[in-house]
Amino acid sequence: MKKIAVIFTTLSMLAAPMLSIAASPEQDLKNFRDHYTKLFPNIAMDDFGNGVYAVDKTSRDQWEAFEEFPPYEIYVDKGEALFNKPFKNGKTYASCFPKAKSGIKQNYPYFDKKRNEVITLELAINDCRKKNGEEPLKYKKGPITHLGAYIAYQSRGKKGNVKIDSSAESMKWYNEGKRFFYAKRGQLNMSCADCHYNNPAKKIRANILSTGLGQTTHFPVYRNKWSVADKGGDGMGTLHRRYGGCNKQVRAKPFKAQSREYRALEYFHTYMSNDLPLNGPGIRM
Ligand code: HEC
Repeated sequence: MKKIAVIFTTLSMLAAPMLSIAASPEQDLKNFRDHYTKLFPNIAMDDFGNGVYAVDKTSRDQWEAFEEFPPYEIYVDKGEALFNKPFKNGKTYASCFPKAKSGIKQNYPYFDKKRNEVITLELAINDCRKKNGEEPLKYKKGPITHLGAYIAYQSRGKKGNVKIDSSAESMKWYNEGKRFFYAKRGQLNMSCADCHYNNPAKKIRANILSTGLGQTTHFPVYRNKWSVADKGGDGMGTLHRRYGGCNKQVRAKPFKAQSREYRALEYFHTYMSNDLPLNGPGIRM
């Protein structure tokens, strides 16, 4: 534990994040954004979607070189092929996502009133498969990220448009997600906010921390870490895979991808990046 403490002494642990469960989603959104624009007055709002590249010049230069031959491109193509490949019953994903070609990612996740739950894009993909008699896909990597990459690519440039339904059940999900973001957890007793709200642009081990604002705009993501030394990994991962990784960093047990906990977190977290242009799939180190 001593060693761990040393790693984290550079981070400021005292700043209390602005968390008021009573605040409306609109007020939360305003406070969240104001926090980052005050910290980084020279970063254009749309650039926050570029994560660590918005706050660190060296990483940005590396990234711009990578983007010349983007490693996710083949997965966008694979995803397109999967999207158009008929299921055994002859239908395709287009039967569930008729508007995918013109961009739909900006509307996910959303609260489904009939089902009383938050529906993410990955969940909707598997619902579509089940409806058509196909086995569900795994949620963290593999084909679901290829489909996700294709759908994200079609949605590039659309502005995040998550709607927080005002019904009591939807607000329960929203508030659960908000609490998750600010709740300390794991052996290191740290919240998402401790790293990504209180300490963005600071260094932790070899990494520079991204801002919580803009963290959801570009998933799924290609990472070297997810292609090298990763059993069966091809580099691509979903947002919930990343959530799991961040939970593990503080020695907390990760939740399952598409668990209620992570869907609630995604509902809050993605709403906080509303109006930023979508730029997925992305590359991260
Ligand atoms: C101990 C510090 C720490 C904590 C706590 C932490 N993260 Fe992270 N997170 C990182 C680091 C380091 C990275 C990689 C550099 C970066 O992009 O910030 C990262 C990356 C991310 C990314 C990818 C950013 C991108 O641009 O693609 C997301 C999303 C994310 N974290 C969300 C979360 C959420 C949600 C939580 C709470 C469940 C959380 N993190 C908790 C350290 C942390």
